[in-house]
Amino acid sequence: MIAVTSGKGGTGKTNVAVNLAVSLRLLGVQVLLLDADMGLGNVDVLLGLSVRHDLRDVLLHGKELEQVIVEGPRGLKILPGASGVEAMSRLTDERVKAFLEEIERYCSAMDYVVVDTAPGISSTVINCLLAADDIVLVTNTEPTALTDAYALLKGLNARCPDGHKGVLVVMNQTSSKEEALGGFDRLRRTAKRFLGWDLEYLGSVCWDETVSLATKRQVDFLTHYASAPCSRDIRKLAARLVSGSQSGQQDLGRFFRKMMEPADE
Ligand SMILES: Nc1ncnc2c1ncn2[C@@H]1O[C@H](COP(=O)(O)OP(=O)(O)OP(=O)(O)O)[C@@H](O)[C@H]1O
Ligand SMILES: [Mg+2]
Repeated sequence: MIAVTSGKGGTGKTNVAVNLAVSLRLLGVQVLLLDADMGLGNVDVLLGLSVRHDLRDVLLHGKELEQVIVEGPRGLKILPGASGVEAMSRLTDERVKAFLEEIERYCSAMDYVVVDTAPGISSTVINCLLAADDIVLVTNTEPTALTDAYALLKGLNARCPDGHKGVLVVMNQTSSKEEALGGFDRLRRTAKRFLGWDLEYLGSVCWDETVSLATKRQVDFLTHYASAPCSRDIRKLAARLVSGSQSGQQDLGRFFRKMMEPADE
C-alpha cells in the first residue's frame, strides 16, 4: 500500500498517484487507486470519469463496493473515498466489521493499493500514512514545498519516533536531474539531522506542459502522451517501486481500521 502525500498543496500528488497507478497496471499488476482527499478528491475529475457514488454510499446507504468502484484507464480500479472515511467514525461496530470484511475480500485480488491523500498534515492524513507500507512524498524544489514536506515528516515522527519504514521522495516539476537531486539532498539532510530518518530517492518528474494538456483533456498523460518526458519519468518511478517492493495481497481493512483510531490532537 502506497500513500502519495506532500505537505504543501498543489505539488502534483494527484497527477503522480493517477499516472503511477496506470504505469503499475502496464507492468501487469492489479491496482486499486483510493481517492482519500476528503471533499476535494478529484481523481475522477482528472480522468473525466462519471462518479455517482463514493465510499459514503457503501457505508451509509447500503451500496455494494462493486457499485461504487469505477474503472479507469488500463483496467485501473478507482475507489472514490471522499467523505467516506470520516463517516466511518459514526458507524455501528457491526456495520464496520461487515465493511472491513467486504473490503478485505475485494483487496485480496489487488497487488497494489495507491492512496491519493489530501494536502496538509491533518490527523487523517497522518493516520493514512501510518497505515501505508510506503509513503511517496511528492515535493518540488521550492523552499515552501520542501519546508512543508519536512513539516509532514515531523508530524509523522511525532506518531512513530522510530521512523516509517519507507519514505520515498519524488521531486516533481524539476528542470534538471541536478536540481532534483539538490532539492532531495536538502530534505534528506534535514530529516537525518533533526529526525534521524533516512529518506529514499524514488526519482524525479520533470516540469512538462503535457501534464496540463492531459488535465485539460481529462485523460491520464501516461496513456495519451506515452512518449512525453513526464510519462518516461513516471514509468521509471513505477519500475523502481515494483523492483523494490514485494507485491502481495493488500489489506485495505488494516488501512480503514487505522483511519478509525481516535485522533490525538
Ligand atoms: N510535472 C509537472 N509538470 C508540469 N505541471 C505539473 C506537473 N505536476 C503537476 N503539475 C501541475 O500542478 C498542478 C497541481 O497538480 P495536482 O493537482 O496533481 O497537485 P496536488 O498535489 O494533487 O494538489 P492538491 O494538493 O490540491 O490535491 C496542476 O495544475 C498540474 O497540471
Ligand atoms: Mg490532489
